[in-house]
Amino acid sequence: MANISIIAFDGTRFDIAAADGSTVMENAVRNSVPGIDAECGGACACATCHVYVDDAWSEKVGQPSAMEEDMLDFAVDVRPTSRLSCQIKVTAALEGLVVHVPERQG
Ligand code: FES
Repeated sequence: MANISIIAFDGTRFDIAAADGSTVMENAVRNSVPGIDAECGGACACATCHVYVDDAWSEKVGQPSAMEEDMLDFAVDVRPTSRLSCQIKVTAALEGLVVHVPERQG
């Protein structure tokens, strides 16, 4: 388990106790975080679960896979810290993780 925080675009902070092996996207959807559409349900096939990993966490979370990188081309306002939240798996190592929801998806 890890306590993670997802910050909605309007600044609302969602503090979530996330199970190991769940994805950041699943936790966002389960907690009704606005702005995470996740249209493909986590298959890395839609780019509507785009988030910005907080600068302090970017290195630890790591870089997207080649497949995720290709899909990120369809996201809006992609930045160096962009990731698809369905591809970030929660582990204890991510205790305290902070991600930010972009203004819009697609
Ligand atoms: Fe579709 Fe993440 S939910 S790419």
